[in-house]
Amino acid sequence: MANYLVIGGTSGISAALVDLLVKEQHEVFLISRSATSATLPPQVKAFGADILTDPFPEDFLPDVLDGLVYSPGSITLKSFKSLRVEDFLDDYEVNVAGAVKTLQNSLPALKKSENASVVFFSTVAVGVGMPYHSLVSSSKGALEGLVRALAAEFAPTIRVNAVAPSLTDTPLAQKILSTDEKKAQLSEKHPLKRIGTPDDVAHAVKFLLGAESCWITGQVLSVDGGLSTLRI
Ligand SMILES: NC(=O)c1ccc[n+]([C@@H]2O[C@H](COP(=O)([O-])OP(=O)(O)OC[C@H]3O[C@@H](n4cnc5c(N)ncnc54)[C@H](OP(=O)(O)O)[C@@H]3O)[C@@H](O)[C@H]2O)c1
Repeated sequence: MANYLVIGGTSGISAALVDLLVKEQHEVFLISRSATSATLPPQVKAFGADILTDPFPEDFLPDVLDGLVYSPGSITLKSFKSLRVEDFLDDYEVNVAGAVKTLQNSLPALKKSENASVVFFSTVAVGVGMPYHSLVSSSKGALEGLVRALAAEFAPTIRVNAVAPSLTDTPLAQKILSTDEKKAQLSEKHPLKRIGTPDDVAHAVKFLLGAESCWITGQVLSVDGGLSTLRI
């Protein structure tokens, strides 16, 4: 049984991940803006986002943390000319600065684990140029650089990896997938002919957290129905 800190966990991919971790009897410390313990199983401790102070309040995390998953992110698709520099800074704050602060505050507990693993979320749109993706591509691109730098800095004590999903059916992607027609059109673009489910991506995150991936660090794992690498 391991202890995991999941930022998010109330919707989308990270909620699917929490279900998988709970099924394997792990303890989950979940933090999100709408977190409530009401409907959660007893091995999940839920906290509101106001607990993410810098530094974290004392004694809220267990002494040893085996993994950290930072899931807050964005998919704001806009033309480059309509964006202001402030939009890029806001996106960076959510995707990169939030991840940095959380990791810095979790380090003492992660360092005490025999198999500490950090998983961040990138996107398929970092490796493949897509129009109207400049905001998310630039902030997630920074996150991919961070993954490799930190994986080197923390080896061999803490592994650091990311998953890079393509379009996945979650509340975050709701606008893009708002009609059956849009869903069908976007499914067709993927070599595997569908968009992702939260479970598709959550299984990859769980793999990177656990001991099965103990010789993997500094990687960005594509979970994208083949979109990043195949042309068929
Ligand atoms: N869905 C996609 O198509 C897709 C594609 C590529 C990459 N991604 C990336 O995958 C990650 C997960 O996406 P998702 O689709 O699962 O998103 P989601 O459904 O919006 O879930 C995000 C989770 O993070 C929590 N959260 C958001 N902002 C927060 C904050 N400031 N503080 C604490 N918790 C916060 C949310 O809960 P509250 O709202 O209660 O805070 C929720 O539990 C993101 O980083 C996203 O950029 C997603």
